[in-house]
Amino acid sequence: MGRHGGGGPHGAAHCTFPLYRSWHRAGGDGARRLSRRRRRGRGRRRQEGPVVSAAQQAPLVALRGLTVAYGDDAPALSAIDLDIRAGERLALIGESGSGKSTLALAFADLLPASAKTAGTIEWEGTSPLGGRDIGFVFQNPAGSLDPVMAVGRQVAEVARTHLGLSWPDALARACDLFGRVGLPDPDTLVHAFPHQLSGGQKQRVALAAAIAARPKLLIADEATSALDTIVQAEIVALIRRLAAEDGMTLLFVSHDIALAAELADRIAVLRGGRLMELGPTRQVIGRPQNSYTRSLIAAHIGLDSPPLFAAANMSAPANG
Ligand SMILES: Nc1ncnc2c1ncn2[C@@H]1O[C@H](COP(=O)(O)OP(=O)(O)O)[C@@H](O)[C@H]1O
Ligand SMILES: [Mg+2]
Repeated sequence: MGRHGGGGPHGAAHCTFPLYRSWHRAGGDGARRLSRRRRRGRGRRRQEGPVVSAAQQAPLVALRGLTVAYGDDAPALSAIDLDIRAGERLALIGESGSGKSTLALAFADLLPASAKTAGTIEWEGTSPLGGRDIGFVFQNPAGSLDPVMAVGRQVAEVARTHLGLSWPDALARACDLFGRVGLPDPDTLVHAFPHQLSGGQKQRVALAAAIAARPKLLIADEATSALDTIVQAEIVALIRRLAAEDGMTLLFVSHDIALAAELADRIAVLRGGRLMELGPTRQVIGRPQNSYTRSLIAAHIGLDSPPLFAAANMSAPANG
């Protein structure tokens, strides 16, 4: 990867970072009604603290009765109750169209304006600020990066906006983050443009941008699905490491139950916009309560059941 002249951000008075769309803050009590009418209020700084095991933690965010409909279609989500516990890795799984992305976007307050919503979402303390307190990684890394802006600048922009860093400091942070996400030769790569990177490298950049403002919640929505198997495994390991190192809570969205089992403390299973099952990974994989979860697991048995059960720290059932 060569160095590209003119990639430096100095002199660029104002840019809008493309990874994040509009974000509306709710009032200071931490609860907000999920309606399209938003209230403005004061955000808050992230509170640093020791990472405590998920079981000991109160919910970071509690969703109650979330229903989302697009236009006049049947609801994409129906009456979802779901907590994300501070410090946990929660996987959200289900087949295509089951409502995973809708749910992930609802947590990040990124649903399109056309979505009709009902229910409440309550955050520990006050409502978070998207891009700063919630990092979001999308499936398609190419689509989440600005094609005409050097990638280092895109990451630096997040740090500059949300951490109030100067450009030199923000660029230094981008460089540091490029190292942390395993990009080779960060000093050079910060000047590259997205089309000069591989799919895996672009997703590493997107991850660097997502964590640049030190979010407390990282949402990865099928972040590895467009990648080949080996790169996918590397990115999953990276997400796990970054979450641990930075004490981030993780919402990992995937259609792949084996991948979810590899990473998650708890698994939530969605089908047709309804929550079918929710529990610790070992329980959901080893003693699934719901027939749909059993069918998802059965689809792996005989094919790649060893990885699935190994991921859940168990041996495969003898009768398959
Ligand atoms: N922006 C949108 N406009 C209209 N319908 C949508 C939109 N986004 C998702 N849907 C519909 O909502 C349902 C759930 O979609 P989605 O949340 O993307 O599921 P998943 O991520 O599990 O594939 C699907 O029927 C999908 O077609
Ligand atoms: Mg999706």
